Amino acid sequence: MGIGKANRLARVFRPTDGFSVMLALDHGYALGPIKGLERPAEVIKTLQDHVDALMATRGVFNNCFTPDGRAGIVLRVSGAVTIAGPDLTNESLTATIDDALRLAADAVASSIFVGTDNERESIKNLARLVSACAPYDMPVLAVTAVGKDREKQFDSRYLALACRVAAEHGADMVKTYFSGDSFETVTRSCPVPIIIAGGPKLETEVDVFRMARAAMDQGARGIDMGRNVWQNANPVGMIKALDAIVHDGASVDDAVAIFNEVR
Ligand code: R5P
Repeated sequence: MGIGKANRLARVFRPTDGFSVMLALDHGYALGPIKGLERPAEVIKTLQDHVDALMATRGVFNNCFTPDGRAGIVLRVSGAVTIAGPDLTNESLTATIDDALRLAADAVASSIFVGTDNERESIKNLARLVSACAPYDMPVLAVTAVGKDREKQFDSRYLALACRVAAEHGADMVKTYFSGDSFETVTRSCPVPIIIAGGPKLETEVDVFRMARAAMDQGARGIDMGRNVWQNANPVGMIKALDAIVHDGASVDDAVAIFNEVR
């Protein structure tokens, strides 16, 4: 690996342990101002100090982010579809390597929609992005998105396929969903680090901590969560508790105690 890519990845995965707590707040690119993310600047201000990296679009980084020289920048570069349109999976690349370099991004992110009518185009987007980033040592995060088919979110066979396909097309890291007890089959068969999304807000904080703990125990290299953090009434408590799980090996009970301390 080139030193440029290694340096950028060290701002995403904490060098002391190789794990990452990334905050996802790119949802507006397709969903608009969803609950909890109506004002991205406030979400970033509240949580920036507590995460390894932020994942957002260039619109949010350019208008809602005050650089601190510490938090890693993961730039979403696929989109051009919305929840109001006919098909959320019909994405194009929406920013260039020049845009990413201008922003001093540490990685770029693009979704692939395996098993949909648009799997070919979305995988081609990823492959083109990998090729465009290679000369600059810019890491690429593939997001194994499921579109509207929520059943796939919990199917390890689908996730193992999607993650492996992403890695085979050159992704340096993959973001996917947690699929329960068989998640280790997903991490074991993917040659690059896997981080997990949180998905829609779960009923309780404990559910989120259990998911994060189980994912880490089964080989995840961290989290890239959004709604379960900033849709919670205590987002700082959530991110601190999740940080303890990812970076300190905290148990679910430890995480609950940390969450309650921050209230
Ligand atoms: C999905 O394609 C987006 O990239 C989100 O970043 C992702 O869903 C993670 O956020 P959440 O934890 O809210 O699922």
